[in-house]
Amino acid sequence: MRASILASLVSALLASTSVAHSDCTAVDNAIIQHEGISKGVEEVQSGIRLYVSKPETGSIRGKANADTAIIYLSDVFGIELLQNRLLADSFARAGYLTVAPDLFNNAHATGDINVPGFNTSAFVAAHGPEVTDPIVAKTIDHLRTKLGVKKIGLTGYCFGGRYAFRFVSAGKGGDAAFTAHPSLLGDDEVKAVVGPVAIAAAETDSMLNAPRRGEVEKLLVGAKVPYQVSLYSGTSHGFGVRANVSVPVQKFGKEEAFLQAVRWFDQWL
Ligand SMILES: *[C@@H]1O[C@H](CO)[C@@H](O)[C@H](O)[C@H]1NC(C)=O
Ligand SMILES: *[C@@H]1O[C@H](CO)[C@@H](O)[C@H](O)[C@H]1NC(C)=O
Repeated sequence: MRASILASLVSALLASTSVAHSDCTAVDNAIIQHEGISKGVEEVQSGIRLYVSKPETGSIRGKANADTAIIYLSDVFGIELLQNRLLADSFARAGYLTVAPDLFNNAHATGDINVPGFNTSAFVAAHGPEVTDPIVAKTIDHLRTKLGVKKIGLTGYCFGGRYAFRFVSAGKGGDAAFTAHPSLLGDDEVKAVVGPVAIAAAETDSMLNAPRRGEVEKLLVGAKVPYQVSLYSGTSHGFGVRANVSVPVQKFGKEEAFLQAVRWFDQWL
């Protein structure tokens, strides 16, 4: 009797090491770090500077997601911004190898895209798809060919948001996308998706205001892929990364948007 209980315990334990990621332990906001010291490392691959954050050795969710990775596509402040690094670390804590490429070749914005003084049109002109797509493509190639990653989720914030969508279009190599408050997300980019896409939208956002959000939703309804659009009260553009976490409604919005992303990748990768 005792032996058979032991045997079933052992087989349950063995099973848990190969558990499907959608079945593994739930995440909650305890795994989100808002401040402190980031734990990832920088490396250069194919000429692209990457911020890399890995799950803890032995983590159950890490084992369950062993053949998957998340590419973190930052806002204009790039991988220098502590909050971007910490959020990438939080995805690693959720069990995903997380890689954030430097999208700006060391020339990230130092101002705020919504604040006078930051020349958005000049910045955008210098970092269009013809410059940014190859960076994301090389990052995907590195993950698939060098690291043997089989499934890739892209999570993008503000500037990086539209690229999360762009890379789940046919032949681009991404399997699912999440974006919080995307900037410049075009109709063609929404229509082209062939994989699951999710959006966390801010209440106040000139880049994705209510009418524009409505247009994007209409396109998603026609897109025949799983989709989710969530609107967070009391938030504004940037909240998924740069929320003021001493304001409860903003802290909740940032944490919930992160959990939305993790649940999305758990479900669709
Ligand atoms: C912003 O950049 C654009 C394009 O480079 C330029 O035409 C414009 O004069 C700049 N605006 C300001 C306020 O500097
Ligand atoms: C964050 O919110 C707190 C509480 O309202 C406020 O005192 C603080 O100035 C805010 N911080 C920033 C950087 O806006």
